[in-house]
Formats: sequence, structure tokens, C-alpha cells
Amino acid sequence: MSVNREIKRITTHILQEMKNKGEKIAMLTAYDFSMARVVDEGGIDIILVGDSASMVMAGHETTLPITLDQMIYHAASVIRGTTRALVVVDLPFGSYQGNSKEALNSAIRIMKESGAHAVKLEGGIEIAESIERIVAAGIPVMGHLGLTPQSIYKFGTYTVRAKEKAEAEKLKTDIKRIQDAGCFSVVLEKIPAELAKEVTESVDIPTIGIGAGMHCDGQVLVVNDMLGLTKGFTPRFLRQYLNLFDEINGAVKSYIKDVKSGDFPNDKEQY
Ligand code: KIV
Repeated sequence: MSVNREIKRITTHILQEMKNKGEKIAMLTAYDFSMARVVDEGGIDIILVGDSASMVMAGHETTLPITLDQMIYHAASVIRGTTRALVVVDLPFGSYQGNSKEALNSAIRIMKESGAHAVKLEGGIEIAESIERIVAAGIPVMGHLGLTPQSIYKFGTYTVRAKEKAEAEKLKTDIKRIQDAGCFSVVLEKIPAELAKEVTESVDIPTIGIGAGMHCDGQVLVVNDMLGLTKGFTPRFLRQYLNLFDEINGAVKSYIKDVKSGDFPNDKEQY
């Protein structure tokens, strides 16, 4: 029987139990009430209010422009749509890199103003002190290593990270350090599957992969990508479960046709 079948709300302890028992963890993003409701009722373990909202909801080219206030708005909407999933919220770019006090203040704002259950921060050793401070305040922290989109201008491209030995070694050190700092889990984004396997086996906390292969303890996808809403975005790691862009496009065209022809509303659709 699965670890979480009977429980009311997924907790970080349940996620740890799932790793210990070899049960995979399923995570998706959501940014608004309606999508959160569908995803939560579907039985997802973790909902990530990702700063990918900057791209898929607001149309920016990167995750950098989204603000702390905007993340809180998205997170509060998602919380209102969930009863079961653990809701994790990204600390946006510029809200935690300054120092650990700033990081704690941002994390506290997210928890207080949205009702979220945990926060996520990108980075390794360089943010370990911030992780320690946030965890010491009682706030669960998820880490994020590999391709960290808030550093896209440093990387230059969205290609696979840690293919070279030096970067792979740094990732191995980073994951241990952020585990020691108190992270309850870590996202591994776009790294070779073999490296993800090695680090997943080397730490106690669950790893959640995106483009990091089959050996991670769980998987995450951006919900708009897996539903086929982000037309033209087809990286190798993405499995698209629907083609919602074309479905919605078709529905919109039918509606326009019905309105223009006078077919909608009919006599049963009026008072
Ligand atoms: O912001 C986001 O959606 C993320 C996922 C890609 C893990 O961080």
C-alpha cells in the first residue's frame, strides 16, 4: 500500500518515508486556484509554485523579473485550491541572494502571507547559511541544483549542466552541504542521469528530477508544458500528456462560430 493513500495533507516527513520505501514522488507546478484544484484532486504529492510563473503566466523570457509580491499572490491562490498536496513556493530572484537575513524575511513573508508549507531556493554552498537560518525559523526548505534558471545569464544557455567533472564534483559537494544545512528535499534540473543516480544514492533526502533521468526519487514538470499549453516548447525531457493549446484553440474557434452565426445562446441557454 502506498505511504500516502490515507493521509490528509502531505508533509515533508511523508516524503522522506516515500524515499525510504522506494515510492516515487510526483510533483507539478501550479500558479492559480483553478489549476491547483485540478492538480490537487488528481492526487499530486507536491505542488510547486515555481518562479517559472514569470515565463508561463506573465510571458517574460526568464524567471528573473517576477517579484516577491507576485509570488505571494500566485502562492495564496494555489493554497486556496488545495487540500492535500504539500505546497512549495520559489523564493524569486533578488529576494534571498543578498544575505541570510533577507532570505529569512522573504521566506517568512511567503509563509505568512500565502499560507504555503515550504520554500525553494536555488544554489549550493553559497546559500547554505540562508538555508540554515530559514530552517532554524521552522520553515521547510527545498533546494535546487544543476540548471538553476535564476543564473541563466551566467550559464548563457539552458543546456544540460554538470557534464564536466569539475561541475559534477561541485554538485556532489553542494548537495551534501544543503542536506546538512537542513533541506528536506532537492530539485535536480537538467543533469546527466548517471550523476543524478549517484547523488540520489549518496544523500538521505529525496531528489526530485526534471531532465535528470529515471533514478531520482521523484519527478517534476511545469504543468503548462506537460499539458501542451506552451506551444513549441519540446525539450527531450518533457512528456506531453495533452495538447491543450490546440484543444482550447479549437474550442475558441467553435465559440466564435456559434456566436457569429447566432447559434449561441439557444432557447435553453437563456432566461
Ligand atoms: O520554477 C519552476 O517551475 C521550477 C521547476 C522547473 C523545478 O523551479
